[in-house]
Order: sequence, then structure tokens, then C-alpha cells
Amino acid sequence: MATSMSQENFKFAPIPKRPRRQQTFRAPMLQSISLENPYLNSRTNSFATLLKDIGPFTMACNREYLKEFQEINRIGSGDFSIVTAAKQRIDGCKYAIKRTRKPLHSNHPKLEALREVFIMSAMNELNPQENLLRLYSSWFENKGTELYIQMELCSKGSLQKLADQGECSADLVKRATLHIARAISAIHSCGIVHRDVKPENILLADNGLFKLGDFGIAGRAEMVEMDDKEGDGRYLSGDRLAGARSSDDLLSADIFALGASALEVGSGTRLPTNGPEAHQIRKGQGRFYESCFDALWNRCGERFAKVVQQCIHTDSKKRPRADELVKSLAAVVTGEEDGPSVKESVTRLKQKEMEILKLTEVVLSQKGRITALEGALRDLVNSSKKHSSN
Ligand SMILES: Nc1ncnc2c1ncn2[C@@H]1O[C@H](COP(=O)(O)OP(=O)(O)O)[C@@H](O)[C@H]1O
Ligand SMILES: [Mg+2]
Repeated sequence: MATSMSQENFKFAPIPKRPRRQQTFRAPMLQSISLENPYLNSRTNSFATLLKDIGPFTMACNREYLKEFQEINRIGSGDFSIVTAAKQRIDGCKYAIKRTRKPLHSNHPKLEALREVFIMSAMNELNPQENLLRLYSSWFENKGTELYIQMELCSKGSLQKLADQGECSADLVKRATLHIARAISAIHSCGIVHRDVKPENILLADNGLFKLGDFGIAGRAEMVEMDDKEGDGRYLSGDRLAGARSSDDLLSADIFALGASALEVGSGTRLPTNGPEAHQIRKGQGRFYESCFDALWNRCGERFAKVVQQCIHTDSKKRPRADELVKSLAAVVTGEEDGPSVKESVTRLKQKEMEILKLTEVVLSQKGRITALEGALRDLVNSSKKHSSN
């Protein structure tokens, strides 16, 4: 690997804390941070300049996936990658290994594939939040033509898979939305946009935490080309489709994508990629849009549906910021949890009443026995008094 990517150089200056009241400035500039991460450190998005920043692109590496890992099974694939679950032979732990599908012959596709590694490693360092998929390591094989990424394994699969299998309860949808809002808040606070938030990239770990994965097209908010329309059409906001004009537009497009994902899995309606119905979702009106919302409202409740509605607001400025969204979703999810706990406490109260009744019966029956014992004792005392006077 190039020297600028070596571990010794991998130092991150602390991110300056943003003043709380500065609400309009959403994307802190990363230039002020001394990152030895080529992608994030570069002042440009141009690959030519990036290559100069990195220096000679040598990919000497002698790691071998199959020697190091015991493959368990294939868990997913996309247009550019194959993902497998594998057990590391030394530490015995299971990981997800993502490898590129097509050979990367020139520097350009190599850098493009490395984008995910750069972003994930930067997040590991800057803000290792529990709802962000964790990167462990990465290496090239086959003379530098294949990139391998070793990540944390989410063995329960993607939210999309859960939805397809009919395993998306209202509670699960709400929890997923809250967890991913936390993940988005963490990346946005570092000036990074994801640009591909969707149920396929939301993964469920064994411990019940949802994680945001697939940073394949993520980037620094201030560096992403504004007219870029990359991403899945289903979750693409109207403003991004028309060409985002500012970093704020890009940040709020992630919020739109999360809202559209929640609407899709929460309503149980597959959103269209394009056409008039996709347009209705972006415009926030029309019969299809309303039927999706009715279904979401009925299934997940009014408060959650309203938060989702705000996320996919057609006006990007009316959408909540990620940190605001976390707060409102946390309130909704906790509010919903109050429902069952009220029921539970009524049941518990009834159980306590029964116990008190039983105890009262016991006390009453013991009272009878005590009275009888007292009587017997009195008789005994009286008879012994008589006996002694005789
Ligand atoms: N860490 C992981 N744990 C479990 N499944 C994963 C993991 N990473 C990816 N997957 C599965 O593989 C699929 C493709 O991975 P992804 O990173 O989204 O690749 P692509 O960039 O090709 O879309 C995901 O939709 C998911 O089902
Ligand atoms: Mg993906």
C-alpha cells in the first residue's frame, strides 16, 4: 500500500465540536482535520489529483482470503461485489468478507472501490458509532485486481431480506429507523454523506442492533459533485434528482432516503424506481403516496408516520436534521414502548391484588388460630392457677 496509508501515519486530530446553536451549518469542513486518509484528506474529488496525493499506487500484498478464512456461505451480492460469511482461522470469529466482482485493472476503479474502505476507516477513527458497520481490514489479491474488505458480520441479514420474508414487525421497522438515524447522524457530524441509504444496506446484527453498511458511494458532503444522481431511484429525493445545490441538500437527501425506506418496509409496499408513482413519493401527494401513508399509519401508528412524512418532505429544508430526527424518533419509539408497559403494569397490579387477597385470607385464618391458641393458653393459665390455689 502507499506510504500515506500506513498505520503509523494514521492519526486523526479531534474534530472540533460544533456550537449547538449553529443550526444552518450542517457539514463541518474536514480540511481542518489532519487525516492521513487519502480520500478524506484530498482537497478534491478528482481522481487525477487524488492519485498525486496518494503517490505511486502499489498494491503489494500477500494476504490470501482462503488461507486466512474458512468460508461459511455467501450472504449477499450486488452489482460490484460478492459478500460471504467466513470464519477467521486464527481468532475463530465470524466476519463478512466483501470482495469486488470485476477485476480492477487500472487505478481509477481501484480508487473507486477503495472509497468504501477510506470512509469506513475514517468513521472507525472519528466516530465509531455502534450503528455503523465496522471495518476490520482490507487488502488486494490477484496482483491488485481484487479488493477484499473484512467487516463485522450482521448474520440476520438486511432489512430488505427481513421485509421479503415477512419478518418486519412495526416494532422492528421503528427500531431500524431510529438506529439508522443514529448512524446517519454520526456520519453527518463528520461531514460525510452516505447517498445509498436503503433497506438492502441496513443490516441486522445478532444483538438486535441495525447497522448502516455499503459506503460504496459515500463521500464528503462538500466534495460530492452536486449534479450527481447516483443511488437507488426508489429512495432518491426530488432535489437530488434535479441536482443537489449544496452540502445541506445532500445531507437532507440521506434523511429522505431513510424516510422512504421506512415508508417502504413500514407500509409493506414496494416503492417504484421511477414513473408517476415514484414522482408522487417525491412530491408528497397523490393516491399512491396516500395509500402508502395510510398503510404506514395503520401499522406503525400516527406519531411514527408523521416523523416519516417529515423526512420525505418535498422541500429539503423542511426535513429534520439527523440529530433532530434521532431525538424525535427516540421519543416516538419510547412512547410506543409505554403502551405495552402500561398494559403490563395493569396486569402486574391485578396479580398484586390477588396476592394481597390470598395473604389476607392467610392472615384471617391465622388470626382464628391465634385466637384459639390465646383461648387455650388462657384456659391453661386459669387451670394452673386453680391447681396452685388448691
Ligand atoms: N456485514 C454484512 N453482514 C451481513 N450481510 C452483509 C454484510 N455486508 C453486506 N451484506 C449483504 O450483502 C449485500 C451486498 O452488500 P453491499 O455492501 O450492499 O454490496 P454492494 O456494494 O454490491 O451493494 C447486502 O445487501 C447484504 O444483504
Ligand atoms: Mg448495497
